[in-house]
Amino acid sequence: MAVGIVGLGYVGLPLLVAFAEAGEEVIAIDVDTAKIEAIEAGESYIEDIASERLAAVRDQVIADNHFAPLARAEAVLICVPTPLTPNREPDLGPLNAAAESVARVSSRAADRSGVDHVPGHHPGVLVPILERESGLSVGRG
Ligand SMILES: NC(=O)c1ccc[n+]([C@@H]2O[C@H](COP(=O)([O-])OP(=O)(O)OC[C@H]3O[C@@H](n4cnc5c(N)ncnc54)[C@H](O)[C@@H]3O)[C@@H](O)[C@H]2O)c1
Repeated sequence: MAVGIVGLGYVGLPLLVAFAEAGEEVIAIDVDTAKIEAIEAGESYIEDIASERLAAVRDQVIADNHFAPLARAEAVLICVPTPLTPNREPDLGPLNAAAESVARVSSRAADRSGVDHVPGHHPGVLVPILERESGLSVGRG
């Protein structure tokens, strides 16, 4: 099984290492090319993650700034920023953009979706994007 992780910051990079250390193949996507290059070099940019841990799982990780490799992922975790707007509501722009990119390449994108830390946004935000972009229907494939 391959696990997809989109957004390789303070949440995504530790998840990448945790899944890889558990023996999973990880497909890691970020729009920030510098992060992709650092992962490929086995160099951590998150202080909680030692470069040695990242380097040790390097062979199990496909890192890319294109979303196409996610087509093989059986699950995708989206860990992009949700900064607060001036009205102190989460700005879902990066999440929407990432979901659209995931749905365009994934044949399983509409199976299930959730936004854990924004109560009330499941399934209203991601499901319409995933269904529209993938042509699939939640629960029916
Ligand atoms: N950092 C924490 O302690 C923490 C705790 C709980 C929840 N969260 C939530 O987790 C999410 C991620 O937070 P974080 O701290 O890891 O953010 P971060 O800013 O450290 O990392 C986000 C990454 O997403 C990438 N990104 C942005 N848009 C993208 C896109 N469209 N496609 C692909 N990659 C994209 C950025 O380049 C960046 O590397 C946020 O919603 C945040 O609110 C964070």
